[in-house]
Amino acid sequence: MSIKTRFLLSYIGVIVIFITLLLVVGFLFLFAITGDLRSIEHFYNKSYVQKPLTNVEESAFTDLMYMAKKEQQSLSDEEKLKEIEADSIDILIKREQELVYTSPNLNEKNLLESLPEFESTNINTRGSMKTEDNFYTYVKYDFYFANKDKGSVFVLRKVNPYAELTREWFPLLFGLLLFLFTMAIGILNYLVSRSIIKPILVMKEGAERIKEGNLDFEMTPTSNDEIGQLNRAFEEMRIKLKESIQMQLQYEENRKELLSNISHDLKTPITSILGYVEGIRDGVANTEEKREKYLTTISTKAKDMDVLIDELFLFSKLDLKKVPFNFETIPLHNYMSDYVGETSLDLVEIDVHITLLSQENSLYVKADRDKLRRVLSNLISNCVKYMDKKYKQITIELIEKQDEVMIQVSDNGSGIEEAALPYIFDRFYRAELSRNSQTGGSGLGLAIAKQIVLEHGGDIWATSEFGKGTTIHFSLKKVEGRGGK
Ligand SMILES: Nc1ncnc2c1ncn2[C@@H]1O[C@H](COP(=O)(O)OP(=O)(O)OP(=O)(O)O)[C@@H](O)[C@H]1O
Ligand SMILES: [Mg+2]
Repeated sequence: MSIKTRFLLSYIGVIVIFITLLLVVGFLFLFAITGDLRSIEHFYNKSYVQKPLTNVEESAFTDLMYMAKKEQQSLSDEEKLKEIEADSIDILIKREQELVYTSPNLNEKNLLESLPEFESTNINTRGSMKTEDNFYTYVKYDFYFANKDKGSVFVLRKVNPYAELTREWFPLLFGLLLFLFTMAIGILNYLVSRSIIKPILVMKEGAERIKEGNLDFEMTPTSNDEIGQLNRAFEEMRIKLKESIQMQLQYEENRKELLSNISHDLKTPITSILGYVEGIRDGVANTEEKREKYLTTISTKAKDMDVLIDELFLFSKLDLKKVPFNFETIPLHNYMSDYVGETSLDLVEIDVHITLLSQENSLYVKADRDKLRRVLSNLISNCVKYMDKKYKQITIELIEKQDEVMIQVSDNGSGIEEAALPYIFDRFYRAELSRNSQTGGSGLGLAIAKQIVLEHGGDIWATSEFGKGTTIHFSLKKVEGRGGK
């Protein structure tokens, strides 16, 4: 059964129950007012009209009927008529088109017009009638006066006009109520189908598109209710799925590139090693000096390859999260001072100046000492490698932030072109300039640094001005006080 049908059935159910309850309450109400169960039963029963009078009224009617048949002169005897009236019974005597006697309670205009027609057969003696202001039930007797004048005697009883009104209008009101309920069902069904069924259909369509592999569409939620939330969750799922597929494709692309890069980077030194070996074997290196030079080159190339393989191995282990990290709380200022002191000895030899800028002496971070050293040496080696100025300056700055410490390694070297900047942390990426230059390198230095920083829960990025210099920024989680090891 479709949701639409279910809703429709539940509306109809609710409305049927509602009408039943309404009727029950209505009848109970009527019963409470009249106290007579039969009044309910007879609400639509003719016998209610057939026997409209009380016993006293009936006997008054019998008296009047007797007078009409046998003692017509008494009908103009007001004394006698008053006697009949004594029990507050309303009577009326009509002669031709004239009311010859009416009880004082019946002083109503246009009463004459409302009275039923003369009927010599006296078949329909009982009934109800409506005047301008009231409803009456009556019993009447039609007869002829001695001079053939048409005469009628009536005993009347006022009826509560509301009861009569209800009786008259009830079918219409009930029909109207039913009509309104039907309309309400229609409107509710339309609203529900607009707010629930439509969004569900949109999602179904979306799911079918996803099944077919099409993820390039958008589902905009139309509301904030549960359906809207479901819609939103579905849309988020689509976006995540799309991202994950794109990531998958990207990985696939990376894997291919990685393989081609490794092949290329290993092939180049091997080709030259083979070339030099051939040179020795063929006697091209015919002097001791030449042979020595060839052997040195072979050794250098082999060492380069060894370094590359080591780097590759480390990177792949970091990528697979197989390198153990030994985190400790490190006093960053002291650690950096020691590091800068140590490296400056090597740097002085190649005429590079290194400066540490740090005001805060009590900065502690959570880090792995050896891995942090690896990050710094990769960055410094880049600063040195891509230095093209006469005065060579490297600056390390420590900046304290709310929950972390920023470490900035700046140089006044060649800088990086803006187009290359987003890629320098990718494995094997080398800016065109460095690829063509004689600097050497595999393009793994920054990728390894990034893996290590990420593993520390920090972030790493670069800013650079081409021709002027580069700054690599990375963050480490701050530790308050001297807690930890
Ligand atoms: N300080 C810098 N100044 C200028 N360019 C830089 C600097 N640091 C990195 N780069 C650019 O980013 C690229 C990637 O750097 P990365 O350290 O990953 O590789 P590499 O230095 O080429 O090789 P490896 O570090 O593996 O020997 C470099 O090839 C270079 O083009
Ligand atoms: Mg490098």
